[in-house]
Order: sequence, then structure tokens, then C-alpha cells
Amino acid sequence: MAKRSIYARELVNLMAGHWVARAVYAAARLGVADLLEAGPQHVEVLAKKANAHEGALYRLLRALASVGVFTETEPNTFSMTPKAELLCSDHPNSLRPLVLLWNELEYSAWDDIVHSIKTGECAFEYRTGSPFFDVLEKDMESARIFREAMAGASRLIPLAISEVYDFSGCNTIVDVGGSHGNLVSTILSTHPDLKGVIFDLPNVVESVKNKMGDEASRCEFAGGDFFESVPGGGDLYILSRIIHDWDDEHSIKILKNCRNAMGSDGKLLLVEIIIDTNNESSFGNWLDLHMLVMQGGSERTEAEYRRLLDAAGFELTRIIPTGQWQNIIEAVPASI
Ligand SMILES: C[S@@+](CC[C@H](N)C(=O)[O-])C[C@H]1O[C@@H](n2cnc3c(N)ncnc32)[C@H](O)[C@@H]1O
Repeated sequence: MAKRSIYARELVNLMAGHWVARAVYAAARLGVADLLEAGPQHVEVLAKKANAHEGALYRLLRALASVGVFTETEPNTFSMTPKAELLCSDHPNSLRPLVLLWNELEYSAWDDIVHSIKTGECAFEYRTGSPFFDVLEKDMESARIFREAMAGASRLIPLAISEVYDFSGCNTIVDVGGSHGNLVSTILSTHPDLKGVIFDLPNVVESVKNKMGDEASRCEFAGGDFFESVPGGGDLYILSRIIHDWDDEHSIKILKNCRNAMGSDGKLLLVEIIIDTNNESSFGNWLDLHMLVMQGGSERTEAEYRRLLDAAGFELTRIIPTGQWQNIIEAVPASI
């Protein structure tokens, strides 16, 4: 095939990327993976159970089977695949809440990506008139889906952090923007001498308080605004996927509040993707655009994290890979 025609095909496939995403969403919204948990099903049965049009559902599942989400094991009969299993509601690492979040509350903000690129502003706020987290504070159902989406998509991150980071010498960790509490509960469960504080917006903390397991007795829950202040008394402050939500000005404010809350021998851990400077194909580059569109935030390079930390009175000491997309970026108060 002529090279030009190969390029055209490749570009068309990229251009149609959101069709694939929307098809995954349709299957997730209809609960198809949940219906296939018990075993293969004929599309006629699936359509009845999912309250869908049989022919249209067949075309959806045939398309998804071509990208490894479901498989057609016999004519018109579909089965689960490892990717499809992650769309089940009760899978411990379920990605279903994340698909619903990206395609419901968040999707229409992408209609205004051109505005974001022209102005550097957040498309979500331009479209709805409100910053993203203000909407979640007022809409409990969206807040619940957001929390579940964050928890499902990040189930492996707390485990990785508790395995790769050496917590010796540390007494109290403060999880700033701790949301669902998975990070603190995982670290406490493997480090019985540690205590933890989960700090987040008041509504978020209220809803997570009663859901903590055995570790709750070694845990404090604090509601507040990290642009105002951060709880004192910790010796390790962790911000997992917080700084990428914000532009530099807001990020420096949060980091300065952490600096003010900790003693001079405290430590700070940022858990974030680090953008490769060689433009390798990377999820981080796409999440970076999503952060711009949704929150006016940004994924950053190592040099950008160094500059940000420096501006807030910290010195970056090391970067520890976790085996996940995110790295641990460790920093200490800068010597004066
Ligand atoms: C992207 S989520 C990260 C959650 C969690 N750390 C994780 O890694 O899964 C960002 C968190 O920041 C919290 N947050 C947003 N604005 C805040 C504020 N002004 N003060 C305190 N927490 C805030 C949100 O409620 C949310 O839980």
C-alpha cells in the first residue's frame, strides 16, 4: 500500500478514537460486563436484560470485540475478556466508575478544547460557569462517582507506594486531598506503628469517615480547604494526584501550606506522572490535556516539578518509580 494511504488510514483511526471510547462507555452504562459475569450469553438474551435493541447491541459488541473488549465465542454469543472484566461493577479494580465519569460529567467539556488551547483556560469552567470541584461539592451523586472513579483507577498505586517507600522514622502521615482514603488505609495496614490523617474537602471527609476499615482507629479525619491551610503535626505529607489538578499559582499555594504545616525535618511526597521530554507515546500527554480541559491543571516534567517545589520552599531529593504510571517525587524543606 502506498505510504500516503497508510498515513491516511492511521490518521483516520486516530480521528475516530472517541468512537471507541464512546462504545466502551455505552457497554459500561448498559452493564454488559455485569451481565456476562455468569458466562457467555446470546445477544438476544443480553438485549432483553440490558433493555437494548438486539441488532444495535450486536453491532456494539462486534466492534468492541475487535479491540479486545468482549469476544464472540459463537455466532451472536459474547463472552468476557480480561479487559471487559475491568468493566464489572463489583471488580475490586473496576474502571466502570471512571468510564462513567469521563463520559457523563466530564465529556462535554472536551467540546470546548479549542477554547482551552486558544486561552490556556479550563474548558469545564468556561462551559459550566463553575470550577470542577465546586460542582462536586454541590452534586453528591457526581461526587460519589468521582470518588469511586479515583479509587478504582488507583487501587494499585497505594499498594505500590507502601511497598517501594521506606516509612521508617515516620510517625504520622497526612494525606492531603486523601479522598476515598485508600492510600492511608493501605499504608497503615502494612505499617502498624504509623498514624494517619485524611484531609480533604468537608463533604468528602464526611462520606469517607464511616467507610474506613480496621485502620480507622489510627486515623484522623480533617475537613478543610488546602488553599487556606493543611493540618499540622505530620512528619510526612503525601499529595497523590493533587498537584496535576492545578496551575502553577494554585499548586505553589498548596505546597506552601504543606511547608507551613510541617516541621523543618518533615518530608513531602508527590505522587504524579512525570512527562517524558522526548515525546514518546505516553498516557501522561493525554491526561495532561484532560487536566487542562477539566481543571486548568497540568502534568509536568521533572524540571517543572523542581521549579514548582523550589518556588514553594522545597528541594526535590529523589524520584522513585512505582511500577505504575505515577512516580513518587520526594522533597524536603529547602535549607535557608
Ligand atoms: C484527583 S483527586 C485525588 C484523590 C486521591 N488523592 C487519589 O490519588 O486518588 C483530588 C482530591 O482533591 C480534593 N480537593 C479538591 N479541592 C480541594 C481543596 N480546596 N481542599 C482540600 N481538598 C481538595 C478533592 O476532593 C479530591 O479528593
